[in-house]
Amino acid sequence: MKNNKEKSKSVVKNKRPKSASSNNVKTLFINGLKDIYWAEKYLVKSLPKFLKKISNEKLKETIEEHLTETEEHANRLEMVFDFCQIKTSSKKCEAMVGLVEEYKKATELFNRGPLLDAALIIGIQKIKHYEMAAYGALHVLSDVLGMEDCSALLKKTLDEEHEVGKKLNELAGEINQEAFNASSEEKAMKNDLQPTGAYMSI
Ligand SMILES: [Fe+2]
Repeated sequence: MKNNKEKSKSVVKNKRPKSASSNNVKTLFINGLKDIYWAEKYLVKSLPKFLKKISNEKLKETIEEHLTETEEHANRLEMVFDFCQIKTSSKKCEAMVGLVEEYKKATELFNRGPLLDAALIIGIQKIKHYEMAAYGALHVLSDVLGMEDCSALLKKTLDEEHEVGKKLNELAGEINQEAFNASSEEKAMKNDLQPTGAYMSI
């Protein structure tokens, strides 16, 4: 139950007037652009730190290519700002800060090798999914706003994010197995869990 003080605070908050010029779909779109632009820039700085930890050559190559793509994504967003005739600007993306931080902590748990590579893939996939959600939403909003040029650019990035996600999934199949094989303890446990002949005959 809210006390009176809290109630009056939330009433004041909800009643804050919105100007007609900002309370619209275009503002929603631009806020999203600023958020993902900040996130892409942050990734350009963060990905090289994770690249150094990768052992698998194919994974390294995929992330190196994706780092170049990430720079292109940021440049593409600058074009979208241009099309909207507004100055390129960014707004700190707390979600991306959190994802990168979580990623950093998770990868600190493992020694260099397939297990660390597997953890790196999980972290990057979480980041990719955040980006896919953001670009998917912006793409739909740009369609509603009738901004065809922006829509095409955002769709291009969305497709590239999907593509890298698919590549990472394929690599995960291989790398997770390698990580599993490297862990003899887990292999022994799996063997213990195999059904015996007695169970099979029931
Ligand atoms: Fe991106």
